[in-house]
Amino acid sequence: MNKTASKPKKSAAKDKAAEERLVPIFVMGKRYEVPDTLTIQKALEYAGFLLVRGCGCRGGICGACGTVYRFPHSYRIEVGLACQTVVQPDMYIAQIPFFPGNKAVYDIESLPAVGGTIAALYPEVFKCVGCGTCTRSCPMDIDVLGYISKAIQGDIAAVAEGSFDCVMCGLCAARCPAEEVQFNIAILARRLYARHLVPKAEHLEKAVKAVKDKAFDKDLQELKKKSLDELKKLYKNLEIEPEMADEFWTPQNKSYLGE
Ligand code: SF4
Ligand code: SF4
Ligand code: FES
Repeated sequence: MNKTASKPKKSAAKDKAAEERLVPIFVMGKRYEVPDTLTIQKALEYAGFLLVRGCGCRGGICGACGTVYRFPHSYRIEVGLACQTVVQPDMYIAQIPFFPGNKAVYDIESLPAVGGTIAALYPEVFKCVGCGTCTRSCPMDIDVLGYISKAIQGDIAAVAEGSFDCVMCGLCAARCPAEEVQFNIAILARRLYARHLVPKAEHLEKAVKAVKDKAFDKDLQELKKKSLDELKKLYKNLEIEPEMADEFWTPQNKSYLGE
């Protein structure tokens, strides 16, 4: 019994030792030792920094945590999202929490959805020298040069589709020799595309109309009257969408769909 009891202890101690392997990193030139399993963001907090800016979703979505780093004996400046990049020994780290990029002001409703609109609002797009630094800088592996080339050609749909995964981190703009603000050019294209070019989603319009027509109000009122236990029971018996359901799946009970 003792033997079996001591075994997990040993492996727990071993796990802890492995977890606690510390590596040196440099933040704004100052040396810190941090566990090598941490992301840059968690390592900064471990080192005592309070992240008020340059830290949002912590999940690689918001783009707030653009970071540049370099290793000794290498001239190469590397880039990444602090919440997604795990620390490595001897990293020299600096964050760029906000990039003050040029941002055109417009009313998307009245903006013509033609290629010339991108050129009119961001004429600097033609200054691109095709160096590809933006593509090499992108933590989302987007072909940034590719969509900038399409912006020069005035192909709104191609820019919108090519930039779809952009998290607006600003790392491409920070390093562009032509001073493009690629992510703002891209979001203009996505707005034009979504507002004026793609066909309207009929099912969405139908759902919005149902909400406006108060189709769900009666059910909501009924739910509000229920006790916590009743709500739990209802939730437990809810028909759940199967994992591999196709896009046309609807539940058997359609009363909650406003139909
Ligand atoms: S970094 Fe700037 S100049 Fe270079 S390819 Fe990208 S947009 Fe063009
Ligand atoms: S395109 Fe630019 S702003 Fe968008 S994710 Fe890539 S580097 Fe960040
Ligand atoms: S905190 Fe949002 S992408 Fe890193």
